[in-house]
Amino acid sequence: MTTQIANPPGTVPYIPDNAPFNAEQRAWLNGFLAGIFSVTQAAPADPPPSLKIAVLYASQSGTAEGLARKVAKELKSKGHVASLASLEGYTPAALAEERYAIFIASTYGEGDPPDVAQPFFQKLCVEHLPRYLDLSYSVLALGDSHYEHFCKFGIDLDNKLAALGAVRIYDRVDCDVDLDEPFAQWKQGLFAELESIVATRPARSAPSSSVTGGNPKSAAAASPTGQGSATYSRESPFYAALVDKRPLTREVSSKQTMHLAFSIADSNLKYEAGDACGVIPQNDRQLVSEIIASLKFSPDAPVQLPKCGTASLCDALTNHLQITRLTRKMIEAYATIGNCQALFDLLVPEQQVQLDKYTWDRGLIDLIHDYPGVLHNPADLVAMLPKLAPRLYSISSSPFAHAGEIHTTIAVVRYRSHDRERGGVCSTLLADRTNTGERRPIYIHPNKKFRLPSAPETPIVMIGPGTGIAPFRAFLHERRALAATGKNWLFFGERSASTDFLYREELESMLAGGHLTRMDTAFSRDQERKIYVQDRMVEQGTQLWNWIDGGANIYVCGDASRMAKDVDAALHRIVETDGGMSRDAAQEYVQTMKDEHRYHRDVY
Ligand SMILES: Cc1cc2nc3c(=O)[nH]c(=O)nc-3n(C[C@H](O)[C@H](O)[C@H](O)COP(=O)(O)OP(=O)(O)OC[C@H]3O[C@@H](n4cnc5c(N)ncnc54)[C@H](O)[C@@H]3O)c2cc1C
Ligand SMILES: NC(=O)c1ccc[n+]([C@@H]2O[C@H](COP(=O)([O-])OP(=O)(O)OC[C@H]3O[C@@H](n4cnc5c(N)ncnc54)[C@H](OP(=O)(O)O)[C@@H]3O)[C@@H](O)[C@H]2O)c1
Ligand SMILES: Cc1cc2nc3c(=O)[nH]c(=O)nc-3n(C[C@H](O)[C@H](O)[C@H](O)COP(=O)(O)O)c2cc1C
Repeated sequence: MTTQIANPPGTVPYIPDNAPFNAEQRAWLNGFLAGIFSVTQAAPADPPPSLKIAVLYASQSGTAEGLARKVAKELKSKGHVASLASLEGYTPAALAEERYAIFIASTYGEGDPPDVAQPFFQKLCVEHLPRYLDLSYSVLALGDSHYEHFCKFGIDLDNKLAALGAVRIYDRVDCDVDLDEPFAQWKQGLFAELESIVATRPARSAPSSSVTGGNPKSAAAASPTGQGSATYSRESPFYAALVDKRPLTREVSSKQTMHLAFSIADSNLKYEAGDACGVIPQNDRQLVSEIIASLKFSPDAPVQLPKCGTASLCDALTNHLQITRLTRKMIEAYATIGNCQALFDLLVPEQQVQLDKYTWDRGLIDLIHDYPGVLHNPADLVAMLPKLAPRLYSISSSPFAHAGEIHTTIAVVRYRSHDRERGGVCSTLLADRTNTGERRPIYIHPNKKFRLPSAPETPIVMIGPGTGIAPFRAFLHERRALAATGKNWLFFGERSASTDFLYREELESMLAGGHLTRMDTAFSRDQERKIYVQDRMVEQGTQLWNWIDGGANIYVCGDASRMAKDVDAALHRIVETDGGMSRDAAQEYVQTMKDEHRYHRDVY
């Protein structure tokens, strides 16, 4: 006898009552069939379609990388296949394989790509054929409008891709220092466009995984930083007590550079030599009071701050908003509120030089005095001011030598303009308005690109004039604490040996003890003709070439605007002259050093 399973179309089959099973067996079998068929029926006919999207970043100090990681994660959560990769090591050929690409790119130098992205962009720039006809893309450009070439690399990249036939999914957005809002706006617009692309595509099988690692570097990029400081961040900083504060320059010096140490003993903050320390600054309360008094506002007037909610005007101007520098946007807002023709005249493109001259050494207080009677309520003032950005300082300590502490080496910004003594917000906060024992909000800004060689026997050459010495003090202490056998050569420069020889005793003692193999100094103002670190490098060209040829890693830290470029030129010259190469070969040699992570720069 055969048992017929009843199965009307569209229903779950069941065992009929007349089947040769007892009630218990029938109940079990019906439950079993219901289980199988309901699972099958519950499965969707077709998973929603998704896109394979490459999220590519060009980053020097990690901001673009952090945003790219967020975007990739969010794309993944929406069911897309998102791969995350740095433009370091990425090629135009790899890009030609993609259909959707999202770029987050910061700008450095004279509107250049970050160091690591230069080879990619150079290769892209020599392409002329419309190679990317199948590529849809969007660019988020990161920059700082205080620089002349605002967001230029992002802009150039966007234009070059369009010229090579790629199609914008969503228009480029250029982000200033205060990037939360433009980032959110770009992301929202981009994601809406992606959704409409998905909606117009036919459904197909969902990809097996929503994160890929096409480029071997992308796996590393996507992995956590390895920092144990996950609980503290720029958004949620650690309040660290200042435990040491001493001048590194003499009182009679023409500048002031200080050693400032914070205790992190009661935190889980972890860092590595080469990382930077972020400090959340606070404006000078005296200046805040002067601004509020000039406008005849009440310091307690409640104002709304995005993300923070209600704050008093005094708190907003002290802790949240930028008041010491002027930007075009601020002047535009101020001119609009007051319908101020004189300022509108300054804002026309032909007056750019005059506008730059006006904003260069003035702040909000000058604008209020020069064009009075514009602001009548605190809300208008708050709306026109950008967010106060954290400041970064290269860490000058090593966790192996200075357990529980973070040291920084800070040049205090002071200048006089328009009959007013002025100071850099953060450097004067720490130098003038923070006593030892007081706490300040800090966080770790990892710099994975600026690390000691993993092999302790590798020789290193450190070029760090001025505050550029900071990470090298960390390197030297770390190598000594870990008994690393590699040779250490330092090039240090400052204005005058008698007043500005930062960490002189420490360095001379390391030199005397042999830990510092060589130290060459360039005191620019101790003689008629300026002598800089790059002059010392060239003087020692033969020796320096021997070190490089012998596998030494080169590190440069400090001023980006002039020093880093001149040092780079000197390095090329040494490779060419002392290494006996043609100009092109020397160029290639230095590029290979970068590619092999033997030439590192931390410049600002
Ligand atoms: C990765 C990184 C690492 C860094 N490491 C260090 C470090 O180790 N040590 C260190 O000291 N700094 C370091 N900096 C720089 C530091 O972050 C701050 O930019 C610096 O301390 C100035 O900040 P501030 O708030 O004191 O000055 P701000 O309030 O930012 O004022 C500085 C601004 O004042 C204006 N200004 C300055 N002088 C004049 C003048 N004479 N006339 C007119 N305008 C003027 C300029 O617009 C200048 O940009 C680093 C920066 C980066 C990005
Ligand atoms: N843009 C500017 O005009 C300017 C000026 C000062 C400081 N800064 C910034 O202020 C911060 C702190 O500066 P800092 O204390 O670290 O010192 P710094 O101003 O970088 O000076 C350190 C030493 O570097 C010398 N130097 C100047 N130009 C150089 C060049 N092209 N190549 C090599 N060395 C050069 C200086 O000499 P001389 O000063 O004698 O020329 C000084 O001896 C940095 O962020 C720096 O970028 C900027
Ligand atoms: C040394 C230095 C040079 C910079 N040059 C420029 C520039 O020329 N134009 C610009 O728009 N932004 C410039 N910036 C601002 C950076 O592009 C901006 O801070 C960006 O958010 C950094 O992103 P990253 O952390 O991913 O490298 C510069 C920043 C530094 C520290």
